[in-house]
Amino acid sequence: VEQTYVMVKPDGVQRGLVGEIISRFERKGFKLTGLKLFQCPKELAEEHYKDLKAKAFYPSLIDYITSGPVVCMAWEGVGVVASARKLIGSTDPLQAEPGTIRGDLAVQTGRNVIHGSDSPENGKRETALWFKEGELCEWTPVQAPWLRE
Ligand code: GTP
Ligand code: MG
Repeated sequence: VEQTYVMVKPDGVQRGLVGEIISRFERKGFKLTGLKLFQCPKELAEEHYKDLKAKAFYPSLIDYITSGPVVCMAWEGVGVVASARKLIGSTDPLQAEPGTIRGDLAVQTGRNVIHGSDSPENGKRETALWFKEGELCEWTPVQAPWLRE
């Protein structure tokens, strides 16, 4: 089954948006398989965002992500990667549609509250990067037969 790595960034934690954000994924019907509050070390932030290393905003992005605790989540389900990106909304919160997390809860790209993997491959890669094996939980939600025929 498809997996995605979603993370409430330090601004989302500081602004008290953790419950609201988790709730949106929960209510949609995806399955939570990993969850932790975590102070991200610089090395991990650099590995996570290594593809953006050449960008002018990269140093400030690393400072931002390591500026306070984040909430790491792994979510599972058919189509979860693309659907999570839709729930999250465009990178620039001013362009993000109302109803999306960024569209409803943020105003600037440099403080856009949440991360979501951009492909199933990166969903696997990032989940393995941010969680140790024993931190993930395999379980069967009782609501499963009420979500999918
Ligand atoms: P993530 O889900 O966090 O990966 O966002 P994304 O996939 O919508 O955007 P992308 O991967 O291109 O960029 C990763 C993150 O870098 C963004 O979410 C922003 O936090 C930050 N970022 C991207 N572009 C800019 C920019 O132009 N300025 C600043 N300050 N930050 C940026
Ligand atoms: Mg991205």
